Amino acid sequence: MACAPFTALADVYDAIMADVEYDDWAAFILRLARERGWRGGAALDVGCGTGNATLPMRALGVDVSGLDASEAMLRVAQRKLPTVSFYCSDFRTMTLPRRFTLVYSVFDALNNLLEPTDFEATARHVFDHLLPGGLFIFDVNTTVGLRDLWEGGRVEGWADEVYYRWVHSFDEATSLARVEAFCETESGPFTEVHYERPYDPPEATRLLEAAGFTSVEALTYPSGRSASVDAARVWMVARRGA
Ligand SMILES: C[S@@+](CC[C@H](N)C(=O)[O-])C[C@H]1O[C@@H](n2cnc3c(N)ncnc32)[C@H](O)[C@@H]1O
Repeated sequence: MACAPFTALADVYDAIMADVEYDDWAAFILRLARERGWRGGAALDVGCGTGNATLPMRALGVDVSGLDASEAMLRVAQRKLPTVSFYCSDFRTMTLPRRFTLVYSVFDALNNLLEPTDFEATARHVFDHLLPGGLFIFDVNTTVGLRDLWEGGRVEGWADEVYYRWVHSFDEATSLARVEAFCETESGPFTEVHYERPYDPPEATRLLEAAGFTSVEALTYPSGRSASVDAARVWMVARRGA
């Protein structure tokens, strides 16, 4: 069965992502934020999916909310974190009733923006949802990262009772990565096709600055030092001026 991205996947997503170091990423984001003067306040996890990076933020005592466009992913998130507010919205157009001191995003969520104009629209909406002095911190795959996502162009294995086989290709003409995600679960097989566009630090910086952000940095995990030009994934930090 062919499904829209992040629909059928929602129920098996956590099993497949079980080894991802979300706890460490949350601590890393807070470290970067505090080093830049963040003193707490409300945070928003955009593209939060099933809440894998919302949960550790909450555990670290942060007043965090989540936002995602996929109802299926959010259903799982809300089950895991019943007292957290989750908003079902597209981050290119979101309009929430509150403002935040920190907006963050992890695991490629912004690579789902397939046009630079969509990235800039997202940056503008994040900017509008930040209080003055607030920070936007996110990871993003670069061209180096998306060109050779996995060795041999595929990953496969078992996660709990789920068999998964994900096949990747990169189109040099369009600069789009395509992942065909096949899963076989106890309720049957399904395939979702996902596209990602790389954002290299110079382009991401330009788009963030066009949206009003300043002090834009491209950093490496876990050192927090400046990212090298051949980094596969970078962590961007941008500030809404005071
Ligand atoms: C790879 S998942 C990452 C989920 C979560 N951050 C994690 O690390 O587990 C990407 C998420 O981005 C969401 N997403 C993609 N495009 C979006 C958009 N335009 N607005 C809001 N969410 C979006 C998808 O629904 C999906 O849940």
